[in-house]
Amino acid sequence: MRKIEIFDTTLRDGEQSAGVNLNTIEKLEIAKQLERLGVDVIEAGFPAASRGDLEAVKLIADTIKNSSVTGLARANKGDIDAAWEALKGSAEPRIHVFIATSPIHREYKLKMTQDEVVERAVEAVKYAKEKFAKVQFSAEDACRTEPEFLVRVAEAVIDAGATVVNIPDTVGYITPKEIKELFSYLTSNIKNLDKAILSAHCHDDLGMATANSLAAIEGGAGQVEGTINGIGERAGNVALEEVAVALHIRNDFYQATTGMKLNEIKRTSNLVSKLTGMIVPANKAVIGDNAFAHESGIHQDGVLKEKTTYEIITPELIGVSSNKLVLGKHSGRHAFKNKAIELGFELVEDKLNEAFKTFKDLADKKKEITDEDLFSILADKQTEATDVSQYALTSIQVQYGTENIPTATIAAVLPDGSQVTEAATGSGSVEAIYNTIERIIDGPVKLLDYKINSVSGGRDALAEVYVRIRFQESEISGRGTAQDVLEASARAYLNAVNRILSLKAQQKEKAHI
Ligand code: KIV
Ligand code: ZN
Repeated sequence: MRKIEIFDTTLRDGEQSAGVNLNTIEKLEIAKQLERLGVDVIEAGFPAASRGDLEAVKLIADTIKNSSVTGLARANKGDIDAAWEALKGSAEPRIHVFIATSPIHREYKLKMTQDEVVERAVEAVKYAKEKFAKVQFSAEDACRTEPEFLVRVAEAVIDAGATVVNIPDTVGYITPKEIKELFSYLTSNIKNLDKAILSAHCHDDLGMATANSLAAIEGGAGQVEGTINGIGERAGNVALEEVAVALHIRNDFYQATTGMKLNEIKRTSNLVSKLTGMIVPANKAVIGDNAFAHESGIHQDGVLKEKTTYEIITPELIGVSSNKLVLGKHSGRHAFKNKAIELGFELVEDKLNEAFKTFKDLADKKKEITDEDLFSILADKQTEATDVSQYALTSIQVQYGTENIPTATIAAVLPDGSQVTEAATGSGSVEAIYNTIERIIDGPVKLLDYKINSVSGGRDALAEVYVRIRFQESEISGRGTAQDVLEASARAYLNAVNRILSLKAQQKEKAHI
C-alpha cells in the first residue's frame, strides 16, 4: 500500500475563493483542525502578499506541531525572505516556490524564454534551500506545458535541492487519461526522481479535479494538493475529503492510502464552511447533507434489508454521529465543557464561560440543543475578534406588517464605548435593519450578497446569515447567528463592518512597520 502525502491549501488557494476572507484567529482555528485531521502539510498562506498574511502564517507555523506548515512564494528573493520570516519558527521549515512554465504564461505573462524560466526557477530553489529544510517547487500551468520541458525544469530544480515537484492543473483543463499519462511520462523520464516526489494540484473548472487527482496517483504522484470542501479559485480545487475517502473505499483498486483521520472529515468540513461562509451543497460527494439520505422507496427498502445495497460510505466513517440530541437546559457547565472538548474546541476560561451563557440563553428558548447548535455557538465564540474596539449590538426591534412600512430601531455600542439608538425604514425588514445600521456606522455600505441557512432542523432552529458588503472601499464577508433571522441579519452586517475595522487597524499597523 503506497502512502500518499496530503497537502492542504484551504488557507491559501482556498482563501483565494471569491468573497472569502478569513481573519487570523479563524485561520488558526482551521489550521488546528487540519492538524487533527492528519494532513501532512498545511499551506497557511502567501507571506509576501501582506503583513497580515505573514503574521497569520507565522502564528500557524509557531503553533502547529504535527503537520508541516508551508507558505507560498514567487520565484524571487523578496517572497522567499518573507516566507522565511513567517516560517523559520516551524518544526520543519518548508517553502513552496513557483513559476509558470507553459508557453501561454511564458509568452504573455512572464515574457521569458524556456532558458530564462529554468534559470529563475533554479536560482530561487537554491536561494530557498539555503534557509529551508524542505523546498517544494511548482510549475504553474504545468498541465499545459510541453512535457519534455517539464522534465527539464523538474531535473534542474531537483538538482538545486527541491524534494517535491508539483504539477498543477492551474486552469482545470486536463482529462484523467491525459494526467495519468503525463505523470507516468514524468515518472519514467525525470532522471533524478529518486531524490523527490511528484505532486498533483488539480482545479475543478471542468468538474474533473477528483478524477484527475486519482488518475495522477495511478500515474505515480506521491502527493495530492487540495482543499476542504473543494473551495478555491474559480470553480475551486480538488476536495481532499473526496480523494481520501475514494482511496479508502477503493483501496482494492488504487492500493494507496493517506494519513488522514477520516472521522474528522465532517467536523473539518463544517468548520471551513462556517468560517468561510461557503455553504456546502446538499448533494456534494462525501460531505453533503444528502450524501447518506435514501429517498426512493426502492432504495429505502434495499437499505433496510442490507445497508450495502445502496450505501458504500457509512456516515460514521466521516464522523457523522447519529446521536444529535446532546444537552438541555438543565445541563451544567461541566457537561458543556466536556461536550466542547468532544467537538474539538479548547476555549480559554473566559470564552468558555461566555459560550456557556449563550448556550443557557438558547436552552431557555429552544427545546433541543443539537451538536450543530453547540458547534455554531463554540465556533463563533472561539473566533470572535478582540483586536480592535468594535460595534456591538445592544437591542433590536423591528415593526413589520403587510399594511405598514417596515421600521427598525437598533441600540448599539460604538467603538469609542458610547451608546447610540437609531431608527430607519426600508421596503422590507432586513432593508430597514441595514438602513438603520448604516446610520449608526455613519457611512455608505453596499450589500453585495446575503445568504441564510438554518443550523439544524426544526422551526426553532438557529439562523445563520452570511453577508458580503463593500464599506470604506473594502469588500468583506460577515456572519451572524441568532434564533431570530432578523437578529442574525443584523449581527452578520455588524460583524462584516467590524471585520473591516480590524483589517484597517492591521493595515495601519503595517504602515508603521
Ligand atoms: O493552481 C496553481 O497553479 C497554484 C500554484 C501557485 C501552485 O495554485
Ligand atoms: Zn491552485
